[in-house]
Amino acid sequence: MSRPLTATVDLEAILSNYRYAKQLHPTCKAFAVVKSNAYGHGAVRVAQYLEGEADAFAVATIEEALELREAGIEAPIMLLEGVFEASEWGLCHEHGFWAALENTVQLESFLELGQTVEKVFVKLDTGMHRLGVTKELASEYIQRLRDSGLVDEVLLMTHFSCADDLADLTTMKQLTFFEQARQSIDGGVEASVANSAAIMKWSVPEGGWIRPGIMLYGISPFAELSGVELGLKPAMTLTSKVISVRTVAAGEKVGYGATYTAEEDHQLATIAVGYGDGYPRAADNGTPLLIKGKAAELAGRVSMDMITARLVQDGSSTLTIGDDVVLWGNGVPVEKVAYWSETIGYELVTRMTTRPKMTYVEAD
Ligand SMILES: Cc1ncc(COP(=O)(O)O)c(C=O)c1O
Repeated sequence: MSRPLTATVDLEAILSNYRYAKQLHPTCKAFAVVKSNAYGHGAVRVAQYLEGEADAFAVATIEEALELREAGIEAPIMLLEGVFEASEWGLCHEHGFWAALENTVQLESFLELGQTVEKVFVKLDTGMHRLGVTKELASEYIQRLRDSGLVDEVLLMTHFSCADDLADLTTMKQLTFFEQARQSIDGGVEASVANSAAIMKWSVPEGGWIRPGIMLYGISPFAELSGVELGLKPAMTLTSKVISVRTVAAGEKVGYGATYTAEEDHQLATIAVGYGDGYPRAADNGTPLLIKGKAAELAGRVSMDMITARLVQDGSSTLTIGDDVVLWGNGVPVEKVAYWSETIGYELVTRMTTRPKMTYVEAD
């Protein structure tokens, strides 16, 4: 038997979450955001499963877009940050990629090259101040792109900085700013504003394109709500097995740095997973997991290849080598593990390394 760590991805759950996003905004088309290897779920497998259903895919780099085309994906693919080098415009033309456009270098290189691209999304900075241009520049860019005759459709996009915080009014301000800018565009323009948080909890302009990412994978963008509570189906379950068992006596310390001290005698399981697999080293003592279906918690610092854990209710001598462990997913929300690691679910799934075996479940 090889090392038992496995990430099982339920592709049908991803499809169902995509359909859910579209149901919430029936007048919109939806990108399936599959950047960063589909947030660690495997971009090619995910895109192949959604192909035929997804209106388009969205990625962050030309390499990610090319990987999907080479795997036979025929749907449009959008570059969310646009091109990083002028030569990428030629690839957009050749492979039917769409691109965000958010600065003068991108605009001038596109116009200079003179090759057609189907859709360009001019990015408006509505307050995040990371990417995007002013409304005056956005209007100018849209006009120049339209006048060039090189683009079938020019759209206006933006990105929210605080949509995951339902008490923060920044999103409303960004939306208002966006709509004012949009109304000032001659002849009107279609919109693309919403990430998962906005899709699920904020108002979204009718028509245009939504951009669900994290919700496709069944993970909540909100700190106070889990994916399941939002009606999503978690897609990834990370499982492993107990590889060693011992009893630690009250007062004994466990692991690197001796950060855990047993308060009473109890069994301790060593499990095959560590930060070398993407399990967060920052996960604190008490981080939840399941061992043979029973509530368990981390006891000791996460190592590169192993963790140590104990049952929450110890009972007597029940753990054995080979017991099944759920690290996150089915029964252990990844959002909870993230909370105990002072991070977000996005990061945990996205930074999985290539070491866990990936397996895929499809509809029967
Ligand atoms: C421009 C853009 N749109 C959409 C998304 C998807 O966001 P989420 O995963 O929160 O749905 C991202 C992700 O970072 C993004 O950068």
